Amino acid sequence: MLTETPLHPAFGARIEGLDLRRPLTEAEFTAVEAAIHRHGVLVIPGQDIDDAQQTEFAIRFGPLETTRAVVDVEKQRLALSHVNDISNLDEKGEILAADDRRRFFSLGNRLWHSDSSFKATPAKHSLLHARAIPPEGGETQFADMRLAWEALSPAQQAELRDLVCEHSLIFSRANLGFADYTEAERRRFAPVPQRLVRRHAESGRTSLYLSAHIGRIQGMPVPEALMLIRDLTEHATQPHLVYTHRWAVGDLVMWDNRCTMHRGRPYDDQRHKRDMRRVTLSDVAPTLEQAAA
Ligand code: OGA
Ligand code: MN
Repeated sequence: MLTETPLHPAFGARIEGLDLRRPLTEAEFTAVEAAIHRHGVLVIPGQDIDDAQQTEFAIRFGPLETTRAVVDVEKQRLALSHVNDISNLDEKGEILAADDRRRFFSLGNRLWHSDSSFKATPAKHSLLHARAIPPEGGETQFADMRLAWEALSPAQQAELRDLVCEHSLIFSRANLGFADYTEAERRRFAPVPQRLVRRHAESGRTSLYLSAHIGRIQGMPVPEALMLIRDLTEHATQPHLVYTHRWAVGDLVMWDNRCTMHRGRPYDDQRHKRDMRRVTLSDVAPTLEQAAA
């Protein structure tokens, strides 16, 4: 028996009664799939799973993303190349030095974003599992972009509906003054176009598709575009539209990047280890090749 409790009045659910150490039954799979489509964010607590078990669960819902969007790719802590290391640890499992380039780069996760919106085919779902958490701070916040869209006036919606944004990791990191890339990284992180407004097929709802990775809107002067994105991001992340997740070890949080944004919150990353692993699923096609909203 699965139980579902709301995380927030308007989106998100906590799902209890699953054991992800073994494969889901068809009935469990159907229930979780319906829940993620409807709620956008699911918290599945109490899971004592390893990277392989996390992957087995994830791939029931879509194809794995296999390319890593990191700097210093040769310094990897985790053995499975599709598992994203969302920790403050180096390849030996020690806390990253204060001046480590990977630490600066990962600060970008504290800006409101949608995972892999900078990839031609962006992410569908992300599944983040907590292995070690700091005693305070380090929460993750979520906001549902379908609600954000529905809260705009019809006139605002009409202005936005056909806009196409360009996304790059370089744009999000520029917000933090990080501009230190190799030529190969610059090529790898070249901007990609994505619709600003998309249709979330399974719920039939329209969604804003916002992300800190946006750096331009096609056909619009850059300052005007960035001001519009900033205003929309503020609109979409007003406190009453945000769910703050306070982690416990063993929590698996699954979210739909097509219709939610998230960001990490600060913690004392020089004193405490925070070990989180993320498996990410790929969407079916670039958003411009998907149905318009
Ligand atoms: C992520 C992410 C934020 C956090 O895993 O994609 O943005 O709180 N995480 O670690
Ligand atoms: Mn993220």
